[in-house]
Amino acid sequence: MKISSFVYFAKFGIKTILCKKKIPILGTVILTDKCNLSCKHCSVNNITAIIHPYEQIKSEMTTLYHAGVRILFFCGGETFMWQDGEKNLRTLVKEAKDMGFLIVNVVTNGTFPLDLPEADLILLSLDGDRERHNIIRGDTYDTIMKNINAATSDNICFYMAINQINKDTIKDVCYTAKNMKNVRAVSFNFHTPYPDTKALALSKKEKENCCKVIIQMMKEKVPVFNLKSAFPYLISNQFPTPCHQCVVIENGKISTCGRCIEIPNLCEKCGYFFVAEYTLLFKGNVMIILDMLKTYLKYI
Ligand SMILES: C[S@@+](CC[C@H](N)C(=O)[O-])C[C@H]1O[C@@H](n2cnc3c(N)ncnc32)[C@H](O)[C@@H]1O
Ligand code: SF4
Ligand code: SF4
Repeated sequence: MKISSFVYFAKFGIKTILCKKKIPILGTVILTDKCNLSCKHCSVNNITAIIHPYEQIKSEMTTLYHAGVRILFFCGGETFMWQDGEKNLRTLVKEAKDMGFLIVNVVTNGTFPLDLPEADLILLSLDGDRERHNIIRGDTYDTIMKNINAATSDNICFYMAINQINKDTIKDVCYTAKNMKNVRAVSFNFHTPYPDTKALALSKKEKENCCKVIIQMMKEKVPVFNLKSAFPYLISNQFPTPCHQCVVIENGKISTCGRCIEIPNLCEKCGYFFVAEYTLLFKGNVMIILDMLKTYLKYI
């Protein structure tokens, strides 16, 4: 991370904590909900299957920038399916950088060729060892591995949503991350139980066991892009929600925190690590602040 970006984030953090401000810093643009997969744990794919046009996405990026967002995520659906004439995902990442976003990340299922050196991180969903990943995501594991090996940059971070199907394969994802040259780190979430995927939710005990494994992996020098100090809050779901410093925009509609904000009683069962990490950070939790400084400076 550039020193100027670090100073910007530090100033934002201090102002937010001291003045209890609710200005966003992290924003997500949903490019489309169209997807080539239909994963067992996912409730957001192919509801409209519309690929939003370039002008609309550009205007949504501008809206987020003016709202204060400086960490931008492109998400979907499948982000690499986004195209408008000659313009593709890479065009959007470059334009986001030119607009002044300080960190630009993309979330993908990894089934398309990975040529995105301008992104700070490509969060690539890997949901277990070959067997468990393929149960959740269809027969995609081998294609993903080929795409990672052929990627044009080493900015990939695995993104694993831990649920009932893959909870025993955390180590597999960690060792794969450690051993692949283009993979910089691995980041986790617990399954967030939308009404149609409640059966995949983890119990408190299961979350505790997963965190023990992740801590063991950290001790073995696996590059884990999460904050250990947030684990107790994630296990007991006792972190503040929603995250007022995070926004998402989909088809012109802005929501605080996530597009799941309107689902009754979901926030109290939220499994997204970034929510715990950001809300605790902006409450001024000292352990989280120190942990975040250490972790973010290492991987971005
Ligand atoms: C909705 S997908 C969109 C981007 C891309 N298609 C992908 O799979 O990475 C974004 C991330 O959300 C995760 N996800 C989907 N449903 C989830 C849930 N109910 N709880 C936690 N994570 C979930 C996916 O595993 C993926 O890592
Ligand atoms: S690839 Fe992503 S958007 Fe598509 S179904 Fe899977 S989790 Fe959902
Ligand atoms: S806190 Fe609520 S709105 Fe935010 S990601 Fe979790 S479930 Fe969604």
